[in-house]
Amino acid sequence: MHGKSILLIIGGGIAAYKSLELIRRLSERGVKTRAILTKAGAEFVTPLSVSSLAGEKVFSDLFSLTDEAEMGHIELSRSADLVVVAPATADLMGKLAGGLANDLASTALLATDKPILMAPAMNVRMWESPSVRRSVEQLKKDGVLFVGPNDGEMACGEFGPGRMAEPLEIVAAIERALKIEGPLAGVRALVTAGPTREPVDPVRFLANHSSGKQGYAIADALARAGADTTLISGPVSLAPPTGVKLMRVTTAREMLAACESALPADVLVMAAAVADWRPDIAANSKIKKSTDRIVPLIKLVENPDILHTLAHGPQRPRLVIGFAAETDDVVENAVAKRARKGADWIIANDVSANLDGESVMGGEKNRIHLISETGTEDWPELSKSEVGSRLALRIADKLKGAA
Ligand code: CTP
Repeated sequence: MHGKSILLIIGGGIAAYKSLELIRRLSERGVKTRAILTKAGAEFVTPLSVSSLAGEKVFSDLFSLTDEAEMGHIELSRSADLVVVAPATADLMGKLAGGLANDLASTALLATDKPILMAPAMNVRMWESPSVRRSVEQLKKDGVLFVGPNDGEMACGEFGPGRMAEPLEIVAAIERALKIEGPLAGVRALVTAGPTREPVDPVRFLANHSSGKQGYAIADALARAGADTTLISGPVSLAPPTGVKLMRVTTAREMLAACESALPADVLVMAAAVADWRPDIAANSKIKKSTDRIVPLIKLVENPDILHTLAHGPQRPRLVIGFAAETDDVVENAVAKRARKGADWIIANDVSANLDGESVMGGEKNRIHLISETGTEDWPELSKSEVGSRLALRIADKLKGAA
């Protein structure tokens, strides 16, 4: 156990509710949280919810004799390995940048001798205002670390930078700052995701409905667990996960070449829905309906099987994981596929299933069966990000066992 702890300062903003999940996620990872709730922060979350999750009382008042008797404010500011401000408001950043201290949070920030990580959250106009820009610049010069803010729609209805980073992104930034090694530290992971597109002519292609969400969630979870992760992605419209090396490809042949260039790796997760066939020749110019009177026949040729090739190649990763997107006889087909492809594990799912009114392909949820050398595990219905996190832990166990 690393025994690390943080002092979390919760500022006043609607994003304060996310700090509750942050505390929970940190405690799952063995990081202890001691919290200061500002007066404005207490308008958004209650001291009781914060203390229930943190497992100890919340500090809030600089001039409280009881608090001072329990722990002096200077000692409090130095009691943890890192001070995290989430949400970091314009007020808290401005005070620290200007050297002001008139409450417990700003006093602790000035008095600490530990690194500080800010997760700003505010309206986009405020974030872009010249005075907040000045505070941020000054704080960065002073060595303060930042995570976010992200772009997106805000509680006030405006769009742009200002949304607080998600709890898991803040956890990753905290782990980096605390140099905590995840269970996959030192492991090299290669993940593929999304569809491939096989051109017919410059404006048309063959593809499939893969959204890339499951592959991206797996790459994200592996990176958060400390793996050096490369994600090779077909054309999708997803934001690259933080801390992952992203290589974009279009066709199956490009995906194979990119995978080969990214080897060696300890683990390969082939989540991409690779097109099995491609048109034998892609026309150089658009096939015209008016001039080419006859209906064009597209002759298909087989694409390389990336999973099979890499599982039988000279640089075979220690753990090769394939997917089986099936609509019938899901488990039987997947068991056969495991042997045929030379994979160690197959993650099988029924892509015709409807989960919460959404199709598995493109939806947020997944229900998978993990087929390994020891048999079949049926996982419950989970979000794709939960499937990613659970898989990362299973991979860590397997690689540790094999080491
Ligand atoms: N796969 C691959 N290269 C291909 C086709 C598939 O690497 N040309 C990989 C996929 O990434 C997945 C696994 O093989 O991890 C199974 O893909 P799937 O489409 O289910 O299997 P197929 O081999 O295409 O078998 P079938 O279409 O007959 O079910």
